[in-house]
Amino acid sequence: MKIFIDTAELDEIKRAVSWGIIDGVTTNPSLIKRAVDRRKGKISMEDYIKEIVKASPGPVSLEVIGRRANEMIEQGMLLHEKFSPFGEVAIKIPVNPSMNDDENIDFDGLKAIRRLSSEGIAVNTTLVMTPEQALLAAKAGAAYVSPFAGRIDDYIRANMGMRIGEDFQKGDYLNHDLLRRARDKILGDAMASASSVREIYESRLINSVADQGHDNGVYSGVDLVARILRIFRAYGFKTEVIAASIRNPRQVREVAELGVHIATVPFNVLKGMIKHYKTAEGMRRFMDDVVPQYRELFMKKKEL
Ligand code: G3P
Repeated sequence: MKIFIDTAELDEIKRAVSWGIIDGVTTNPSLIKRAVDRRKGKISMEDYIKEIVKASPGPVSLEVIGRRANEMIEQGMLLHEKFSPFGEVAIKIPVNPSMNDDENIDFDGLKAIRRLSSEGIAVNTTLVMTPEQALLAAKAGAAYVSPFAGRIDDYIRANMGMRIGEDFQKGDYLNHDLLRRARDKILGDAMASASSVREIYESRLINSVADQGHDNGVYSGVDLVARILRIFRAYGFKTEVIAASIRNPRQVREVAELGVHIATVPFNVLKGMIKHYKTAEGMRRFMDDVVPQYRELFMKKKEL
């Protein structure tokens, strides 16, 4: 599995690259905003992005800001032309640039993906929230799709009435296994007194319980990644899946278990992946147990 770092902070990119485990970088307008706000205009945007591209050992995803196909194609080409001389660049195109359901946008994201891909530009399809969107992006020729695992977990929790910052924190793991068991338990109890399949199937109560804790049959952000991988494998799509909007190390583990191609991981989550209480405790014990004769092995001749 490849690991990208999900940040526009140059210091974080350089540090993580120095650890020897980074294969690329993903950015988006919000991450760029955060990085630029911190620098208060000390470096031009163009130079800053060049530095990011130079620092990355693999593709750097840069996002367009247009919402019509022509704009996105033009901007994608411009970003590619400006920055690909300094390293590998992928262009991030939103799968659907509509800002609400009623907006009349004619599959502009897919048109832009098709055109840029046919020009040989790698497209990273962003804001993918359903397997259906991923399928369309793969059909349009995208090199990558980025399902937003953490935001789907947020959405599932929001639909259960849970509020971010109050009922859960951004980095909290969504225990989808517990959710499934809770739903099964309540459904089992509610079904116990029914006398026909139809009665269960039509029961409002049972349907309202069955509808909880998932998003239209997607049971977690990790489940979204699993379903996309299943579809891509079934048809042999070459499109790679980037598990994105990763909030905690356990999500990284779960998408790795699925065999996802890439996970794009924020700096803090990367740091969390190396930690364990027993590892630190083990280190303390080993260090306490070092006897002088063993220490001598590592001393240079003249120190002896
Ligand atoms: O990888 C996409 C990412 O930058 C969005 O993450 O945590 O804001 O949902 P988040």
